[in-house]
Amino acid sequence: MIDKRLMKLLKEGKKYIFANVFLQWICLLCNLLAMYGIAMVLSGLKLGISGGYLPLFAFMVFSGAMVIRYFCMRLSHKMAFLSSREVKKTLRKQIYEKLLRQGPGYAENVKQAEILQTAIEGVDQLEVYYGSYLPQFFYAMLAPVTLFLVLLFIDVKAAIILLVFVPLIPVSIIFVQRWAKKMLSKYWNQYTDMGDSFLDNLRGLTTLKVYEADERQNLRMNEQAEAFRIATMRVLIMQLNSISIMDLVAYAGAAFGIIAAIIDLKNGTVSLSGCIFILLISVDFFLPMRQLGSYFHTAMNGMAASDKIFSFLETPEKKNGTISQLHHKSIHADHLSFSYGDRKVLDDLCFTIPEHGFVGIAGVSGSGKSTLASILTMRHTAYEGTVLADDIDLRNIHHDTWSETVTYVQTGSYLFKGTVKENLLYADDTADDEKMWEVLEEAAVADDLRAREGLNTMIEEQASNFSMGQRQRIAIARALLKDSDIYIFDEATSGIDMESEQMILETIGRLKGKKTIIFISHRLANLKKTDFILVLENGRIAEQGTHADLLKNNGVYASMYNQQIALENYGKEADDETLTNESDV
Ligand SMILES: Nc1ncnc2c1ncn2[C@@H]1O[C@H](COP(=O)(O)OP(=O)(O)OP(=O)(O)O)[C@@H](O)[C@H]1O
Ligand SMILES: [Mg+2]
Repeated sequence: MIDKRLMKLLKEGKKYIFANVFLQWICLLCNLLAMYGIAMVLSGLKLGISGGYLPLFAFMVFSGAMVIRYFCMRLSHKMAFLSSREVKKTLRKQIYEKLLRQGPGYAENVKQAEILQTAIEGVDQLEVYYGSYLPQFFYAMLAPVTLFLVLLFIDVKAAIILLVFVPLIPVSIIFVQRWAKKMLSKYWNQYTDMGDSFLDNLRGLTTLKVYEADERQNLRMNEQAEAFRIATMRVLIMQLNSISIMDLVAYAGAAFGIIAAIIDLKNGTVSLSGCIFILLISVDFFLPMRQLGSYFHTAMNGMAASDKIFSFLETPEKKNGTISQLHHKSIHADHLSFSYGDRKVLDDLCFTIPEHGFVGIAGVSGSGKSTLASILTMRHTAYEGTVLADDIDLRNIHHDTWSETVTYVQTGSYLFKGTVKENLLYADDTADDEKMWEVLEEAAVADDLRAREGLNTMIEEQASNFSMGQRQRIAIARALLKDSDIYIFDEATSGIDMESEQMILETIGRLKGKKTIIFISHRLANLKKTDFILVLENGRIAEQGTHADLLKNNGVYASMYNQQIALENYGKEADDETLTNESDV
């Protein structure tokens, strides 16, 4: 009933839990005092001794007890909040640090939506565990024993009967625990799966609308939501049934205790005020345990969420490298292979990219270019063979050092909602306006921004208020501001207008000789200026050399290039034909 791993997280929080239990115990004593006051007055009335100071005294005891109880109750709620706050903070910190430790390759082990739900809602679910369930667990044991000890002075038989019934409640909790655990684990899996597809559909909503597939996807999500609703209802039914059983035990126990007290009153072994007192407090024997039972179900939900949290926190970590100083920024790959599951997509690559080299990577779609880029940016770490930077194995280099050294620019780079300035500052938070204008000028987007609100121009969500070409040029400016030693451009000019493409190519060209550049492009004409080109075919290096050499070789590269030229010429011929036809008319 107590999760050891969750208990371990309680460091500072322990004192709040004990304070909470203590305060609840004081509340119980106040309650006893108040009930005793009532019992005295009621029995006094029955016995005809209603006059004198007794009612006034009883009233004062009652109100005094109630006032103290009120303040203790408030304080205990505060303690509940403080104990859960500590743990929630610790857990979120651990999740965040775990993600950071995984470095750029964090996505290899975890789905984004899942981590989002776990870190936010999963952790919140633990609030009941620490704030209510755990203190209640201790209090539920302390309260019946206290009541038993008090009742021993009034009616031993009733005290024993009441105490005997109490453990039946935790027994019923343990009985449903295993069943509940399985059900809740299923419930949480369905919940995170639903979150995953919801996030996916939300991101792709425009695409769904374009293909008029939103209706279909809506139906699919409805099915998922229905399955989740059924799982939720099952959980609720289980919880309600379990609470009903606990209620039955509690009220039956209280009834037996009261019956015993009435029999004892008849036999004259207990006073009238004692019997009324037992009548008033008999339910208190069971209430803490019953309350524990209902907290238990909500806490179980938190525990099921915590299983997910711990399984994430316990996923084996690849060791982060310790080297944080790189001098020579050449890259050397030796027998580099990589597979997605069983599918090998890079096969035994050996190549060297010299410092300040300008290297092109070509190959048909799916030949493994972006996968190679993701290995070089540490986003994929489970490769075979070695990659050396400055003759140091990439695995031994610290994530942060490598992130500072390499900048990756891909198609449709992400711009955050906020001003242009805020977006640029991600690359270098010490940059001043002058430096920012310099890179915007370099990336040929300064004039566009001057015509708007300069550095304070707002970028809407998904940069919807900028054209594709402008977005990419801002992204290039941001990359330039980082001023890293190695740049990887992965189809950085694809899908944008010719003019922007030309501007970006010129910007990249200006980096030649100053930075190490890896330039991935399907448009082979863009690779003409590179020092040499690696041509990938089915994950292997089919050939390498300069643009001119490769054309001479008449291999894969030459045939791809000739196809592209033929396609461009076909476009031109089609245009010429249209023009001729128009002039004929
Ligand atoms: N996350 C992934 N999981 C499984 N397979 C993947 C994953 N990413 C890529 N692949 C597969 O690996 C192969 C290489 O993909 P990659 O993205 O590296 O190709 P590419 O050369 O960059 O293609 P393109 O020119 O279209 O961008 C492809 O067959 C692709 O389907
Ligand atoms: Mg690619």
